[in-house]
Amino acid sequence: METQIFKVTSIFENPDALQQASDILARGGLVAFPTETVYGLGADGLNEDAVHAIYKAKGRPSDNPLILHICDTEMLPQLAREIPEAAIKLALEFWPGPLTMVLPKTPQVPDAVSGGLDTVAIRFPNHLIARELIRRSGKPIAAPSANLSGSPSPTTAQHCIDDLMGRVDAIVDGGSCGVGLESTVISLAGKVPTVLRPGGVTVEQLRKVLGEVCVDPAVTHPMEEGQKAASPGMKYKHYAPKARVILVDASRDAFAGYVNKRKEDGVFALCFSEDVAALEVPAVCYGGTDHPEEQAHSLFDALRQLDAREAKLVFAHCPSQEGVGLAVYNRLLRAAAFDIVKL
Ligand code: TXA
Ligand code: MG
Repeated sequence: METQIFKVTSIFENPDALQQASDILARGGLVAFPTETVYGLGADGLNEDAVHAIYKAKGRPSDNPLILHICDTEMLPQLAREIPEAAIKLALEFWPGPLTMVLPKTPQVPDAVSGGLDTVAIRFPNHLIARELIRRSGKPIAAPSANLSGSPSPTTAQHCIDDLMGRVDAIVDGGSCGVGLESTVISLAGKVPTVLRPGGVTVEQLRKVLGEVCVDPAVTHPMEEGQKAASPGMKYKHYAPKARVILVDASRDAFAGYVNKRKEDGVFALCFSEDVAALEVPAVCYGGTDHPEEQAHSLFDALRQLDAREAKLVFAHCPSQEGVGLAVYNRLLRAAAFDIVKL
């Protein structure tokens, strides 16, 4: 398949490119596009065949459901069977933005989107290009992250090109994504609102609006054998670079001491900018120690750089779990397949 690349600097400067990309979506094609979190691989979310094509292009297991992206809350009743009070409160506070809500689904939502569950995940992205694409296509757009299944989510058009060239109809190049990690996923389909995946909207922010909010144990702990995943995405390894990653929970000095004892070919540090001076192995930085937003923005690109430099073993300096840090920690834990050393 030939993949067209549309460069879109802004919705005002490149309306023709946007229209062509929206037409592809409306016809049932696949288009990778930027959002404020990561790039998504979009298709018409009400077209079963188009949704199947997403799974095929990504090599994604078909029981891992997709998020439907909307550009107006008026699209909600067509997709969600019930809209609880909590959903309205969260929408008023955080939409458009990096928050996905899991709600009971209507029969219009194809099983291919919900992975056979009775719920659907919905997000209203805060990115003009994404919203304009949805609006012009006239459909809710199903979109997982636009990476090959298992590799780090894409935060630039080049990442999408690296993974999906020849596998999708088009890639909209709209620059790099601001947040850099995928949206927060919260389920409102059970008794207590439960965070299934931490992201740009923090647990602290959600509690301010809703009061009681649980965090699913799978956010920070490996799932037990045979345990049922609240969010099917959590049972897959995910976000993995090709190298083995070990997360090291240590002070700056202890981290440097530990890593410097392991100087060998292919050993890298994935660290904070303040760590570099003391390190004797090649290092890739993912932001400053006390800057979780910067870490979120840089992490996936850093993981891809480690692959490009053929890292074999990566010691990653563990971030704080406060605020957006919880999302950074959650992604790194998965990149490390829960292999963590505490010093
Ligand atoms: O920021 C994001 O959310 C990006 C951009 C493109 O919007 N999308 C994204 O999609 O990260 P994806 O497919 O890579 O991750 C969706 C996550 C998966 O972990 C999936 O299991 C979960 O949401 N999910 C989707 N529908 C669900 C449902 N009905 N119940 C529980 N979890 C669901
Ligand atoms: Mg993904």
